[in-house]
Amino acid sequence: MEQTRARAESPTKFLLDETQLPRRWYNIAPDLPSAPQPVLHPGTGEPVGPDDLAPLFPMELIGQEVSEEPEIAIPDEVLDLYSLWRPTPLYRAHRLEQAVGTRSRIFYKYEGVSPPGSHKPNTAVAQAHYNKKEGRTRLATETGAGQWGSALSFACRLIGLECKVYMVRISYEQKPARRSMIKAWGAEIVPSPSEDTESGRAILAEQPESPGSLGIAISEAVEDAAGRDDTAYSLGSVLNHVLLHQTVIGQEALAQMELAGAFPDVVIGCVGGGSNFAGLAFPFLREKIAGRELEVLACEPAACPTLTRGVFAYDFGDTSKLTPLVPMHTLGHDFVPAPIHAGGLRYHGVAPLISQLVRDGLVRAEAYLQNDVFASALVFAGSEGILPAPEAAHAIHGALQAAAAADEEGKERTILFNLSGHGHFDLAAYDNYLAGKLEDVALDEQEMNRALQAIEGLPTPA
Ligand SMILES: Cc1ncc(COP(=O)(O)O)c(C=O)c1O
Repeated sequence: MEQTRARAESPTKFLLDETQLPRRWYNIAPDLPSAPQPVLHPGTGEPVGPDDLAPLFPMELIGQEVSEEPEIAIPDEVLDLYSLWRPTPLYRAHRLEQAVGTRSRIFYKYEGVSPPGSHKPNTAVAQAHYNKKEGRTRLATETGAGQWGSALSFACRLIGLECKVYMVRISYEQKPARRSMIKAWGAEIVPSPSEDTESGRAILAEQPESPGSLGIAISEAVEDAAGRDDTAYSLGSVLNHVLLHQTVIGQEALAQMELAGAFPDVVIGCVGGGSNFAGLAFPFLREKIAGRELEVLACEPAACPTLTRGVFAYDFGDTSKLTPLVPMHTLGHDFVPAPIHAGGLRYHGVAPLISQLVRDGLVRAEAYLQNDVFASALVFAGSEGILPAPEAAHAIHGALQAAAAADEEGKERTILFNLSGHGHFDLAAYDNYLAGKLEDVALDEQEMNRALQAIEGLPTPA
């Protein structure tokens, strides 16, 4: 009774109605304390121009990639599709707080309510929209865990485009249900490395058992798109325009935290390429840059510790060196991360905007072992009920670490994290964890130094 009354005074869900859907994306670029470094053409070493990118992307997205406008209007067709699942709920994790006995308040934004089950359609529908508008009829993409492939397949189906997905082989084998979902929305899907591209064939010739990586799958999708006039390339993370589209998450969360009468002391997200993290964190970083006190924490796997141990350098976004040179934290473009279960976090690089923010001291990063992450995932599932995606579980683990640290210091903090997706297609990973079969892999120093040799001789950022 007592508890019921306390809950009524402090609700569990903070909901916005459809009329409160953000109408504009927030562009952090003009607010950055130091100007972002340009993306370079690998042949000339000069900044890439719109013409270099035109074979791969529609002009509107190229414009967004370099935009200095603080806000960009969301097209009506995209808003219409967003309204199928947005605004997403923000929860106060009362039961999680009780389960771990913290004095801190924990909130989470839940992006798993979208039809494909993660934050990824926030950019997938936008990218499909602009491509269709500019006359492309087909998109090619990579997918790690399968969340991005499902999101793009979903968006292409609803908007009316063909779609081809190169899925990292280890995930293709671990997650047959994601494959089925991608096919159900009408996309073609192959395991990567595949026999369908020159990049795939070259890697298979050297390493027939390659588990694949996001870097390899990106090479295949870029090659596919570059070779066909009807096809554009679509990337699910890393690029500025992708991070931009995700900022609907943080804008909604700001309004929902206001409904809760709170502002976070800490904002937390997991980082693969960085899009869900940016989506939640950038609108809050806007406040931080304007002087508000706030800690921002990026969580990554110890098997692929791009932000915590990688170097800030110019590197290729893919393994076969087909992309421009991007200024970012990297572990080297031919690094193939250990096959951990958070497939969506197995990427050698990270978004340049996030790299810059880490460099400027506005974002801090931590890396975790997968058994610790799964333990936190089950504490969360056992209290809040949602079985999280292994990627999102890194943010849960980060939030529980932050709460424990606050308790130790005798402080009461307000913690907000992004629950970027559900784990309904990750049940084999949970089975392995429960059977004690998950291996803890922290990247070996020697392997890291070997992989970093790949960037020797490339231009260095200022
Ligand atoms: C649920 C979920 N969260 C996070 C990520 C990591 O990607 P990003 O860093 O771009 O958000 C992925 C990638 O597949 C994902 O599926």
